[in-house]
This record gives sequence, structure tokens and C-alpha cells, in this order.
Amino acid sequence: MRKKLIAGNWKMNKSPSEAHSFVSTIRENTFENEVVFLVPFVSIPSAIDATQGSLIKIGAQNMHFEDSGAFTGEISAKMLKDLGVEYVIIGHSERRAYFGETDETVNKKIKKALEHGLTPIVCVGETLNQREQGITFDLLRMQTKIALLDIPSDSAKNIVIAYEPIWAIGTGVTATSAQAQEACLAIRNTLSELYDGVADSIRILYGGSVTSDNSKELFDMPDIDGGLVGGASLKEDFVNICK
Ligand code: PGA
Repeated sequence: MRKKLIAGNWKMNKSPSEAHSFVSTIRENTFENEVVFLVPFVSIPSAIDATQGSLIKIGAQNMHFEDSGAFTGEISAKMLKDLGVEYVIIGHSERRAYFGETDETVNKKIKKALEHGLTPIVCVGETLNQREQGITFDLLRMQTKIALLDIPSDSAKNIVIAYEPIWAIGTGVTATSAQAQEACLAIRNTLSELYDGVADSIRILYGGSVTSDNSKELFDMPDIDGGLVGGASLKEDFVNICK
């Protein structure tokens, strides 16, 4: 059985002190599902401090694919691990659109994250135009295959994949549970093509305008193992999504 994972992607929101007080509020609840906050780099230490003694985990939203070197402004997996980080988003569509991330850099970053024992949450998903052209499943298949290139199955089982249709991110337009399920199933079928016997243990999340009103229906689908939640993870209502 895959344990459900609810991951809150704060994006560029919540300062260190705001992170501390928000996590301190959320931790007063108990959750059966795994709960992670992906927070801005500078807010990681205070967010981790606020989780002490709870089961909530903290992750980052990006990392570099080298351990160290002349990469001004970048943060390495090794640095994140040193802080106590457990998860890292790789290849979010905003990173791909605004910061030049490609399927190739995504692949390098996943390998580096795994090498340091971080769990990558790898984002894939189509634009509205790609959906209308009928190439969604081809695209998801390609993105997944390039992301996982040369990653052996004993490492791949530690990866989380997030299906995030770009047209649903931050728009208030959520994929229907049927659309999200068929896309997540297409990703799982791609994993089955790549690996023997691990596709059923890899968690696949849905992301894109998840709220407490639609989360249950989405997360009840057979191939959806939780969510990557942006805007709704900034408010206390996030607790209802996690529950
Ligand atoms: P959203 O963002 O929930 O605000 O649509 C999701 C994401 O970008 O991960």
C-alpha cells in the first residue's frame, strides 16, 4: 500500500518567522497521511525547528546538480541534507518556464538528490495547448523517461512524481478526477515500461488548484497518491486537505 503524501509548495511565500508560526499551528493536528512543507531556502531552519517532535517533514523547492563550486546563488543537495531536509521539488513548471530548467537538468538533479538521500518530487505536466493538440500522454511519457534516464530501479523506488497540468496551476481550474487519474495512470504505465516491479510502489501526486473542496475526490482515485498543493497550503484550511 502506498502511503498518501500531501506536500505543500509555498513557492516564494512565508519568511522564516512566518514559517515557524504556521508550522507550529499545523502541527497541533494529527494526520494519518504523510505531510511535507516545501519552503523557501531561508525559511528551512525555522520550519524544521517548528516540526521537532512532530511527524511533519520539511523540503526545499529546488537545488543544484553539483555538490559545490562556482555557481553563484545556488544551493546544493549536500547543503540541504546538512540542514535536515528530506524532500526536494525538482522541475516544477515555474522553474522550467522562468529559470530555464529542462528535462536534462531535471535528470541530473534527481540523480544528485538521490545520491544524498533526499526524496525528489519530480514535476511533469502539459500546457493547455499540448492538451488541446492531444499530445498529453506522449509528453508525460517523454518527460518521465528523460527524468529517470540511467536511474536504476532500487533508486527509482524512492522518487515521488507529481502530475501537474500547467493550465491548472494557480488558476482555480482543477483537472477533473477522471483527467487526473488517466494522466497518473499513464505515468504509472511508463514506470512499468522502465522498471520491473517498482511502478506500484512509486507515489504519484496530483497538483494544480487542489483545495479542501476537491482533494478527497482526487486523492480517492486509484493512481493518485496525494497532492502537491500550492496556494491552499498557505492557509490553515490545508489541514482539511491533509486529513
Ligand atoms: P496551486 O499550485 O495549488 O496553487 O495550483 C500547485 C503547484 O504549483 O505546485
